[in-house]
Amino acid sequence: MSKMLILLGAPGVGKGTQAQKLMAYLDVPQISTGDMLRDESRRETGLGRQASAYMQRGELVPDGLILEMVRVRLEAPDARNGVIFDGFPRTLAQVEGLNRILQQLHRKLDAVLSIEVPAQQLVERLSARRSCATCGAVFNQLLDPEAAEKHRCPKGQTVIVQRDDDKPETVERRLKVYTVQTEPLKDYYRRAGLLSEVSGEGSVDEVFDRLVHALVEAGSDFHQDTRRN
Ligand code: AP5
Repeated sequence: MSKMLILLGAPGVGKGTQAQKLMAYLDVPQISTGDMLRDESRRETGLGRQASAYMQRGELVPDGLILEMVRVRLEAPDARNGVIFDGFPRTLAQVEGLNRILQQLHRKLDAVLSIEVPAQQLVERLSARRSCATCGAVFNQLLDPEAAEKHRCPKGQTVIVQRDDDKPETVERRLKVYTVQTEPLKDYYRRAGLLSEVSGEGSVDEVFDRLVHALVEAGSDFHQDTRRN
């Protein structure tokens, strides 16, 4: 049974953190366009080189590049039973592109969850974010000051880094870009009857419980699977 959902929300609301938990819960992969672009950029591919200039400025990577990357990823065998989109779509053109791709693949979207956190908290969360460059594990110095230090990377050498685009001036730009280009998507999905808005304040587990509750409310596919877990 397909489970196709979108996690919407401003930079730092916790999309990546919650996608990790939802992946385990629903047994479907996460498609994070941000992680995919950072990977391309690390490997210095043509796409990575094109994308990194936009990312460093806190601006969106052009829609055409993103849609092609997502189309290829959606055709992979592990995406057959559903996916969790994290950080995609981000523009109305990406919404339309996703609709076209899903129609071609005879798939449909089940739910859109928008995580809501006041902007001031987002700046604090993002300046305290650290991650392991080898395995991608994410930490927060405010939530748990020692977690990054204690991390022993399961994939190899532990390399704790701060993301280039988490500098305060870039965070400010990313938040503005979200308000102008991505927030209008909430209206689109509200009109489509797919949107649930969920508070992202409180502990990671509290937010996760709210998201699961919203999924259960959203439809029977999720209900069946959440009961099984
Ligand atoms: P992307 O990587 O998608 O970044 P983002 O959307 O800005 O989101 P973040 O990863 O910053 O935050 P998050 O919501 O995942 O929060 P997290 O869980 O890490 O995109 C980066 C760039 O790539 C874009 O600017 C753009 O250039 C490009 N790009 C990507 N997709 C694109 C697209 N579709 N189109 C065009 N361009 C695209 O949490 C943040 C911190 O808070 C962490 O430290 C975490 O530990 C902590 N935290 C999590 N939950 C809580 C909680 N409940 N309480 C306190 N702290 C918490």
